[in-house]
Amino acid sequence: MSATHTIKHVASALARQTLQDSRLTHPVAAVRPIRLLPWLHVVKVGGRFMDRGAEAILPLVDEIRRILPEHRLLILTGAGIRARHLYSVGLDLGLPVGSLAPLAASEAGQNGHILAALLAPEGVSYIEHPTIANQLALHLSATRAVVGSAFPPYHHHEFPGSRLPHHRADTGAFLVADALGAASLTIVEDVDGVYTADPQANDAAQLLPQISAAELLAQDGPLPVDRAMLEVMAHARHLQQVQVVNGLVPGRLTAALRGEHVGTRIGTGATPR
Ligand SMILES: Nc1ncnc2c1ncn2[C@@H]1O[C@H](COP(=O)(O)OP(=O)(O)O)[C@@H](O)[C@H]1O
Ligand SMILES: [Mg+2]
Repeated sequence: MSATHTIKHVASALARQTLQDSRLTHPVAAVRPIRLLPWLHVVKVGGRFMDRGAEAILPLVDEIRRILPEHRLLILTGAGIRARHLYSVGLDLGLPVGSLAPLAASEAGQNGHILAALLAPEGVSYIEHPTIANQLALHLSATRAVVGSAFPPYHHHEFPGSRLPHHRADTGAFLVADALGAASLTIVEDVDGVYTADPQANDAAQLLPQISAAELLAQDGPLPVDRAMLEVMAHARHLQQVQVVNGLVPGRLTAALRGEHVGTRIGTGATPR
Protein backbone atom coordinates (compact mmCIF):
# COMPACT_ATOMS: atom_id res chain seq x y z
CA MET A 1 0.00 0.00 0.00
CA SER A 2 2.77 2.39 0.85
CA ALA A 3 4.31 1.83 -2.62
CA THR A 4 1.03 2.82 -4.28
CA HIS A 5 0.91 5.88 -2.08
CA THR A 6 4.46 6.90 -3.18
CA ILE A 7 3.68 6.38 -6.87
CA LYS A 8 0.54 8.50 -6.62
CA HIS A 9 2.58 11.36 -5.29
CA VAL A 10 5.60 11.02 -7.55
CA ALA A 11 6.67 14.48 -8.64
CA SER A 12 6.45 15.18 -12.38
CA ALA A 13 6.60 18.47 -14.17
CA LEU A 14 3.89 17.27 -16.54
CA ALA A 15 1.57 15.66 -13.98
CA ARG A 16 -2.09 16.62 -14.33
CA GLN A 17 -1.33 18.99 -17.23
CA THR A 18 -2.42 18.73 -20.81
CA LEU A 19 0.43 17.89 -23.18
CA GLN A 20 -0.97 20.40 -25.67
CA ASP A 21 0.19 23.49 -23.82
CA SER A 22 3.68 24.38 -25.07
CA ARG A 23 4.27 26.81 -22.16
CA LEU A 24 4.08 23.81 -19.83
CA THR A 25 5.80 21.22 -22.01
CA HIS A 26 8.63 23.38 -23.35
CA PRO A 27 10.74 23.58 -20.20
CA VAL A 28 10.66 19.77 -20.00
CA ALA A 29 10.61 18.82 -23.69
CA ALA A 30 13.24 21.32 -24.83
CA VAL A 31 16.03 19.30 -23.19
CA ARG A 32 18.35 18.10 -25.93
CA PRO A 33 18.13 14.34 -26.47
CA ILE A 34 21.27 12.22 -26.09
CA ARG A 35 22.95 10.67 -29.10
CA LEU A 36 22.15 6.96 -28.92
CA LEU A 37 24.60 5.79 -31.60
CA PRO A 38 27.05 8.65 -32.22
CA TRP A 39 29.43 6.38 -34.17
CA LEU A 40 26.77 5.28 -36.64
CA HIS A 41 26.88 6.42 -40.27
CA VAL A 42 23.66 6.07 -42.24
CA VAL A 43 23.78 5.62 -46.02
CA LYS A 44 20.58 5.76 -48.06
CA VAL A 45 20.73 4.23 -51.53
CA GLY A 46 18.01 5.37 -53.92
CA GLY A 47 15.65 2.96 -55.63
CA ARG A 48 16.37 4.44 -59.02
CA PHE A 49 20.06 3.89 -58.36
CA MET A 50 19.28 0.22 -57.69
CA ASP A 51 17.16 0.09 -60.88
CA ARG A 52 20.35 0.62 -62.89
CA GLY A 53 21.33 -2.95 -62.04
CA ALA A 54 24.75 -4.58 -61.94
CA GLU A 55 26.59 -1.75 -63.69
CA ALA A 56 25.76 0.66 -60.85
CA ILE A 57 25.30 -1.72 -57.93
CA LEU A 58 28.44 -3.86 -58.12
CA PRO A 59 30.97 -0.97 -58.01
CA LEU A 60 29.03 0.57 -55.09
CA VAL A 61 29.05 -2.77 -53.26
CA ASP A 62 32.84 -2.94 -53.81
CA GLU A 63 33.23 0.56 -52.43
CA ILE A 64 31.09 -0.26 -49.36
CA ARG A 65 33.12 -3.44 -48.81
CA ARG A 66 36.35 -1.41 -48.74
CA ILE A 67 35.05 1.18 -46.27
CA LEU A 68 33.62 -1.30 -43.77
CA PRO A 69 36.81 -1.34 -41.65
CA GLU A 70 36.49 2.45 -41.24
CA HIS A 71 32.80 2.85 -40.34
CA ARG A 72 29.81 1.11 -38.87
CA LEU A 73 26.97 1.56 -41.31
CA LEU A 74 23.21 1.39 -41.42
CA ILE A 75 22.51 1.08 -45.15
CA LEU A 76 18.92 1.90 -46.07
CA THR A 77 17.40 1.34 -49.50
CA GLY A 78 14.59 3.15 -51.24
CA ALA A 79 11.96 2.15 -53.79
CA GLY A 80 12.27 2.69 -57.55
CA ILE A 81 10.56 1.56 -60.70
CA ARG A 82 8.53 -1.30 -59.20
CA ALA A 83 6.94 1.06 -56.65
CA ARG A 84 6.11 3.48 -59.44
CA HIS A 85 4.30 0.69 -61.27
CA LEU A 86 2.52 -0.26 -58.04
CA TYR A 87 1.48 3.35 -57.50
CA SER A 88 -0.02 3.64 -60.98
CA VAL A 89 -1.95 0.36 -60.70
CA GLY A 90 -3.04 1.17 -57.13
CA LEU A 91 -4.11 4.72 -57.97
CA ASP A 92 -6.10 3.42 -60.95
CA LEU A 93 -7.91 1.08 -58.59
CA GLY A 94 -8.54 3.85 -56.07
CA LEU A 95 -6.42 2.38 -53.28
CA PRO A 96 -5.97 4.78 -50.36
CA VAL A 97 -2.56 6.18 -49.55
CA GLY A 98 -2.29 3.96 -46.47
CA SER A 99 -2.53 0.90 -48.70
CA LEU A 100 0.00 2.22 -51.21
CA ALA A 101 2.63 3.03 -48.58
CA PRO A 102 3.40 -0.58 -47.55
CA LEU A 103 3.36 -1.71 -51.18
CA ALA A 104 6.08 0.80 -52.05
CA ALA A 105 7.90 -0.04 -48.83
CA SER A 106 8.03 -3.66 -49.88
CA GLU A 107 10.08 -2.68 -52.94
CA ALA A 108 12.47 -0.71 -50.73
CA GLY A 109 12.86 -3.90 -48.71
CA GLN A 110 13.52 -5.94 -51.85
CA ASN A 111 16.32 -3.57 -52.82
CA GLY A 112 17.72 -3.94 -49.31
CA HIS A 113 17.71 -7.72 -49.61
CA ILE A 114 19.64 -7.43 -52.89
CA LEU A 115 22.36 -5.24 -51.31
CA ALA A 116 22.54 -7.42 -48.20
CA ALA A 117 22.93 -10.56 -50.29
CA LEU A 118 25.86 -9.03 -52.17
CA LEU A 119 27.51 -7.95 -48.91
CA ALA A 120 26.76 -11.20 -47.07
CA PRO A 121 30.38 -12.47 -47.34
CA GLU A 122 31.33 -9.43 -45.23
CA GLY A 123 28.85 -10.46 -42.51
CA VAL A 124 26.16 -8.00 -43.63
CA SER A 125 22.49 -8.99 -43.30
CA TYR A 126 19.10 -7.47 -43.98
CA ILE A 127 17.22 -6.58 -40.81
CA GLU A 128 13.57 -5.59 -40.43
CA HIS A 129 12.24 -2.38 -38.86
CA PRO A 130 11.59 -3.83 -35.37
CA THR A 131 15.21 -5.01 -35.28
CA ILE A 132 16.46 -1.58 -36.37
CA ALA A 133 14.29 -0.09 -33.63
CA ASN A 134 15.36 -2.44 -30.85
CA GLN A 135 18.57 -4.27 -31.65
CA LEU A 136 20.65 -2.13 -33.97
CA ALA A 137 23.44 -1.66 -31.44
CA LEU A 138 23.62 -5.40 -30.87
CA HIS A 139 23.82 -6.15 -34.58
CA LEU A 140 26.45 -3.49 -35.19
CA SER A 141 28.51 -4.89 -32.33
CA ALA A 142 28.61 -8.19 -34.21
CA THR A 143 29.17 -6.82 -37.70
CA ARG A 144 30.25 -3.63 -39.47
CA ALA A 145 27.03 -2.93 -41.36
CA VAL A 146 23.42 -3.94 -41.70
CA VAL A 147 20.88 -3.18 -44.41
CA GLY A 148 17.24 -2.18 -43.94
CA SER A 149 14.35 -0.53 -45.74
CA ALA A 150 14.53 3.27 -45.77
CA PHE A 151 10.73 3.54 -45.94
CA PRO A 152 9.21 4.66 -42.64
CA PRO A 153 6.58 2.17 -41.41
CA TYR A 154 3.54 4.46 -41.57
CA HIS A 155 1.31 2.00 -43.46
CA HIS A 156 -2.32 2.92 -42.70
CA HIS A 157 -1.07 5.76 -40.51
CA GLU A 158 0.30 7.56 -43.59
CA PHE A 159 -0.89 11.18 -43.70
CA PRO A 160 -3.78 11.53 -46.18
CA GLY A 161 -2.73 14.87 -47.76
CA SER A 162 -1.67 13.32 -51.06
CA ARG A 163 -2.64 10.22 -53.04
CA LEU A 164 1.05 9.18 -53.00
CA PRO A 165 2.72 8.44 -49.65
CA HIS A 166 4.08 11.67 -48.20
CA HIS A 167 6.79 9.98 -46.13
CA ARG A 168 9.07 8.01 -48.39
CA ALA A 169 12.60 6.62 -48.25
CA ASP A 170 14.62 9.86 -47.77
CA THR A 171 12.27 10.91 -44.97
CA GLY A 172 12.52 7.52 -43.30
CA ALA A 173 16.33 7.52 -43.52
CA PHE A 174 16.52 11.03 -42.06
CA LEU A 175 14.08 10.29 -39.25
CA VAL A 176 16.00 7.23 -38.11
CA ALA A 177 19.47 8.82 -38.51
CA ASP A 178 18.48 11.90 -36.51
CA ALA A 179 16.59 9.92 -33.88
CA LEU A 180 19.65 7.73 -33.29
CA GLY A 181 21.98 10.73 -33.18
CA ALA A 182 24.03 9.24 -36.02
CA ALA A 183 27.28 10.88 -37.12
CA SER A 184 26.07 11.38 -40.69
CA LEU A 185 23.47 10.67 -43.34
CA THR A 186 24.64 10.31 -46.93
CA ILE A 187 22.07 9.99 -49.71
CA VAL A 188 23.36 8.09 -52.75
CA GLU A 189 21.88 9.25 -56.04
CA ASP A 190 22.74 8.81 -59.72
CA VAL A 191 23.57 12.53 -60.16
CA ASP A 192 26.26 14.71 -58.53
CA GLY A 193 23.85 16.27 -56.04
CA VAL A 194 20.91 18.65 -56.05
CA TYR A 195 20.70 21.00 -59.03
CA THR A 196 18.67 24.09 -59.84
CA ALA A 197 16.63 21.84 -62.21
CA ASP A 198 16.64 18.18 -63.25
CA PRO A 199 20.16 17.79 -64.73
CA GLN A 200 19.04 14.87 -66.91
CA ALA A 201 16.38 17.03 -68.57
CA ASN A 202 17.95 20.49 -68.54
CA ASP A 203 21.49 21.31 -69.74
CA ALA A 204 21.41 24.66 -67.92
CA ALA A 205 20.85 23.01 -64.51
CA GLN A 206 23.53 24.02 -62.01
CA LEU A 207 24.81 22.00 -59.09
CA LEU A 208 24.04 23.48 -55.67
CA PRO A 209 27.03 22.61 -53.44
CA GLN A 210 25.38 23.91 -50.28
CA ILE A 211 21.81 24.91 -49.48
CA SER A 212 19.51 24.86 -46.48
CA ALA A 213 16.50 22.57 -46.33
CA ALA A 214 14.26 25.63 -45.95
CA GLU A 215 15.70 27.28 -49.10
CA LEU A 216 15.32 24.07 -51.08
CA LEU A 217 11.76 23.63 -49.87
CA ALA A 218 10.92 27.13 -51.07
CA GLN A 219 12.02 26.25 -54.63
CA ASP A 220 9.48 24.90 -57.10
CA GLY A 221 10.38 22.16 -59.49
CA PRO A 222 11.61 18.60 -59.22
CA LEU A 223 14.06 17.40 -56.57
CA PRO A 224 15.98 14.14 -56.09
CA VAL A 225 14.95 14.00 -52.40
CA ASP A 226 11.57 13.85 -50.65
CA ARG A 227 10.03 17.21 -49.81
CA ALA A 228 8.82 15.68 -46.56
CA MET A 229 12.46 15.08 -45.60
CA LEU A 230 13.16 18.80 -46.06
CA GLU A 231 10.15 19.58 -43.82
CA VAL A 232 11.37 17.19 -41.13
CA MET A 233 14.90 18.62 -41.34
CA ALA A 234 13.65 21.89 -39.84
CA HIS A 235 13.11 19.99 -36.58
CA ALA A 236 16.38 18.02 -36.59
CA ARG A 237 17.81 17.34 -33.15
CA HIS A 238 21.31 16.16 -34.07
CA LEU A 239 22.17 16.07 -37.77
CA GLN A 240 23.24 19.49 -38.99
CA GLN A 241 23.36 18.42 -42.61
CA VAL A 242 22.90 15.57 -45.02
CA GLN A 243 24.99 15.11 -48.12
CA VAL A 244 23.61 13.99 -51.50
CA VAL A 245 26.34 12.29 -53.55
CA ASN A 246 26.73 10.53 -56.88
CA GLY A 247 27.12 6.80 -56.23
CA LEU A 248 28.02 6.21 -59.88
CA VAL A 249 31.35 8.02 -59.39
CA PRO A 250 33.83 5.75 -57.60
CA GLY A 251 35.12 7.23 -54.34
CA ARG A 252 32.35 9.77 -53.75
CA LEU A 253 30.63 7.76 -51.01
CA THR A 254 33.97 7.00 -49.35
CA ALA A 255 34.90 10.69 -49.38
CA ALA A 256 31.50 11.71 -48.00
CA LEU A 257 31.82 9.22 -45.15
CA ARG A 258 35.24 10.71 -44.36
CA GLY A 259 33.56 14.10 -43.99
CA GLU A 260 34.59 15.55 -47.34
CA HIS A 261 32.34 17.86 -49.35
CA VAL A 262 31.76 15.98 -52.60
CA GLY A 263 28.09 16.58 -53.41
CA THR A 264 25.27 18.78 -52.17
CA ARG A 265 25.19 19.51 -48.47
CA ILE A 266 21.67 20.31 -47.27
CA GLY A 267 21.66 22.10 -43.93
CA THR A 268 19.07 21.26 -41.26
CA GLY A 269 17.65 23.37 -38.46
CA ALA A 270 19.81 21.65 -35.80
CA THR A 271 22.16 23.96 -33.93
CA PRO A 272 25.76 22.96 -33.19
CA ARG A 273 26.45 21.61 -29.71
N1 LIG B 1 16.75 19.38 -58.86
C1 LIG B 1 17.26 18.18 -59.15
N2 LIG B 1 18.56 17.90 -58.83
C2 LIG B 1 19.07 16.69 -59.09
N3 LIG B 1 18.39 15.68 -59.67
C3 LIG B 1 17.10 15.89 -60.00
C4 LIG B 1 16.49 17.16 -59.76
N4 LIG B 1 15.22 17.07 -60.18
C5 LIG B 1 15.04 15.85 -60.67
N5 LIG B 1 16.16 15.12 -60.58
C6 LIG B 1 16.29 13.74 -61.05
O1 LIG B 1 16.03 12.88 -59.99
C7 LIG B 1 16.67 11.67 -60.31
C8 LIG B 1 16.70 10.79 -59.11
O2 LIG B 1 15.38 10.44 -58.85
P1 LIG B 1 14.92 9.89 -57.47
O3 LIG B 1 13.47 9.60 -57.56
O4 LIG B 1 15.41 10.79 -56.39
O5 LIG B 1 15.75 8.53 -57.42
P2 LIG B 1 16.07 7.58 -56.18
O6 LIG B 1 14.89 6.69 -56.09
O7 LIG B 1 17.32 6.83 -56.59
O8 LIG B 1 16.28 8.45 -54.98
C9 LIG B 1 18.00 12.08 -60.86
O9 LIG B 1 18.53 11.10 -61.72
C10 LIG B 1 17.65 13.36 -61.61
O10 LIG B 1 17.49 13.12 -62.99
MG1 LIG C 1 16.29 10.37 -54.61
